[in-house]
Amino acid sequence: MQMTLAILKPDSVEAGNAGNILALLEREGFKIRGIKMLRLTETQAEAFYEVHKERPFYGSLVEFMTSGPVIPVALERVDAVSHLRKTMGATDVAKAEEGTVRKLYGTSIERNAIHGSDSPENATTELFFFFSRAELQATR
Ligand code: RTP
Ligand code: MG
Repeated sequence: MQMTLAILKPDSVEAGNAGNILALLEREGFKIRGIKMLRLTETQAEAFYEVHKERPFYGSLVEFMTSGPVIPVALERVDAVSHLRKTMGATDVAKAEEGTVRKLYGTSIERNAIHGSDSPENATTELFFFFSRAELQATR
């Protein structure tokens, strides 16, 4: 079993799609091991997406991610990291496959409904960005 981090982005929460996305993830075999709702500060969003600091979309991405509450979710499954990426679909909604979260609920390359960790190493870092060790262990 492996854990990964999903974030239901502000567009999903605002549009009332959070429940449907969580249901889709559960249907895909993910177990919810942690969940909370919070609004990222600018400093937190900048830190979370620091890898993209030099990219032209960084400022806009930080603005979007702080525009409303998000729902970080700790998910457990066999091959959780790669299966979540597959379940999410391509970054650009226009290129996302039918049935993926982004195809169903995203509206642009930026407002694409969901974040998912892109490697097991980043999953560990990102899980601890939002959840304490105690919080993650309490649900096992
Ligand atoms: P994420 O990190 O949120 O799971 O998304 P990802 O791996 O599929 O895509 P990534 O390249 O890491 O980009 C992070 C987020 O930045 C926004 N973005 N905007 N305007 C643009 O060209 C552009 N490109 C990326 C998206 O919200 C993307 O998910
Ligand atoms: Mg990414």
